[in-house]
Amino acid sequence: MQGNFTYYNPTRLYFGEASLDKLKDELTNYGNTVLLNYGSGSVKRNGIYDRVVAILREGGKTIIENPGVMSNPTLEKLDEGIRIARENKVEWILSLGGGSVCDYSKGVAASVNFEGDYWNEFWVEGKQPPKDQRILPIGCILTMAGTGSEMNGGAVITDAANSNKLGHVFDSRLMPKFAILNPRFTMTVPLDQMKAGIYDIMNHIFEQYFSDFDDNTSDYISEGLMRSLIVASRAAVKNPQDYEARSNIMWTATWALNTLIKCGKSEDWMVHMIGHSLGAWTHAPHGYCLASVSMAYYRRAMKNGYAKFERFARNVWGVNTAEEGLEALRNWMLEIGLPLTISEIGATPDMIDDIVSTTVIYPAGYLDLTPEDIKAILNDSL
Ligand code: NZQ
Ligand code: ZN
Repeated sequence: MQGNFTYYNPTRLYFGEASLDKLKDELTNYGNTVLLNYGSGSVKRNGIYDRVVAILREGGKTIIENPGVMSNPTLEKLDEGIRIARENKVEWILSLGGGSVCDYSKGVAASVNFEGDYWNEFWVEGKQPPKDQRILPIGCILTMAGTGSEMNGGAVITDAANSNKLGHVFDSRLMPKFAILNPRFTMTVPLDQMKAGIYDIMNHIFEQYFSDFDDNTSDYISEGLMRSLIVASRAAVKNPQDYEARSNIMWTATWALNTLIKCGKSEDWMVHMIGHSLGAWTHAPHGYCLASVSMAYYRRAMKNGYAKFERFARNVWGVNTAEEGLEALRNWMLEIGLPLTISEIGATPDMIDDIVSTTVIYPAGYLDLTPEDIKAILNDSL
């Protein structure tokens, strides 16, 4: 195992059908005034909102409501949340929803006491809030499995006016102080979003697995997570109310991106960078954007990372060659009902230059991409 690393994760996680009961205990750790961020109404329809508000009221909290945090939250909405938090002097934030609401809450928590241009400093420049800045604590009640946002510092925000979707990984001060994961809460997630979440999880694992060739414990953990996800996703697509499957998907999502499986590794993240840009132009669910370019991307990556793709084929799919491994992946994606082309998510050939121009390029696992390569990947994915 190569490299030096520090592993630290401060999130206290409560999991299972009874996990919401723990909210009452957590309330004593935080101030009186809480900003309650939530999305476009699902938590009201499925009753989770009422349960959470009752616990907050019983705990004597003053609730400042901030509804309407949209999927792929925008900079404009972030500005609004920061304004509401400042005006009401909120002391902490409770995120009630999926990854979008949790990411958004981190953006507000990081920016409320920041005096500069938060968009530019954090998302464009990739800086951290100053060491002596007061950061609002965040709690997360997760209603959808996929992003891992409940136990990491990631926060993806879209500057909709410029079709620019940028992710930033905040330091551990912005990781939720606690996260409540009740798989039962995910049962009302629309089927499309459930599938998008499943592929998001798989791709988080890929972004950390498809790099390097050394023998690393992190890769064995990744293979176990992938195998669990394959079994659970098949069961969940057949019967979305299968608690065993949904609970395994939720737990796998957390471990796929809570900073563990990248330990001792270089990482890739280029499928995500292309996916974010595609999302900014098409507004398709995040996981669908990733799925739609994956086959073209991994066929290229396989050429440079053949031995790793062979290992993936053997240890994840039980087949022999790297090519058979990718074919097994493709078949699983078809079986789950994921889009395999960007046309399926609403991208058209005339969008490709714009998508390329807003794709952030990092050094990647087995590929060092140029804008021309990204254009070719998108064209191959049409
Ligand atoms: O707005 P509401 O009404 O809540 O509806 C949401 C939304 O329409 C709905 N939903 C969530 N839970 C539900 C539910 N509907 C019924 N019942 C429930 N229990 O599902 C829709 C999608 O929710 P969203 O939060 O947008 O999905 P997801 O969790 O996939 O989050 C996507 C965002 O996270 C970012 C993505 O780019 C995207 O902006 N990511 C964050 C990452 C991180 N923090 O590390 C990493 C990821 O790679 C990703 O980039
Ligand atoms: Zn993702």
